[in-house]
Amino acid sequence: MAVKNVLRMGDPFLLQRAKEVEQFDTPELNQLVEDMLETMAACDGAGLAAPQVGVDLRLVIFGIEHNPRYPDAEQVPQTVLINPVIELLGDEMDVAWEGCLSLPGMRGAVPRYTEIRYTGVDQFGEPIDRTVSGFHARVVQHECDHLDGILYPQRIKDIRYFGFTDELFAEGSLGNPSQPCED
Ligand code: NI
Repeated sequence: MAVKNVLRMGDPFLLQRAKEVEQFDTPELNQLVEDMLETMAACDGAGLAAPQVGVDLRLVIFGIEHNPRYPDAEQVPQTVLINPVIELLGDEMDVAWEGCLSLPGMRGAVPRYTEIRYTGVDQFGEPIDRTVSGFHARVVQHECDHLDGILYPQRIKDIRYFGFTDELFAEGSLGNPSQPCED
């Protein structure tokens, strides 16, 4: 097991479409999953995509139990999701703060679809099929975006709601992103 180096925004590897996983339950794949789980835990991350550790595969992990970076977040089961497909269940979106281990110390207010169904398989090839909403849906959309070379700043509609965490949440800051300023 090893904590991997997480690539940061600006690295072109984060901008490419990752490749499908074709073989499951191999020593290499299981080692990758273990290393990613350890890396996510070491960084208090809510999720991590294989391209973020320099691996060109459509594999993400996510899960939140008690995470100090997301103290108020609802629980999301620890999941290894491979070759994911997201189906949007409606047009409704909401805006909330997101962070990313590839943009340490920063947050942005990102619109995401509130209800989705996602399918895929785990590292053993066992199918996953879940219909989820809210924070769970947000995390899955964020992680799966990584597999298509998309980082959350590309999703931000009002770029004023993007910045360094300690400034954004300082006294007198912009406040709640769900009611963004319009002008
Ligand atoms: Ni991320």
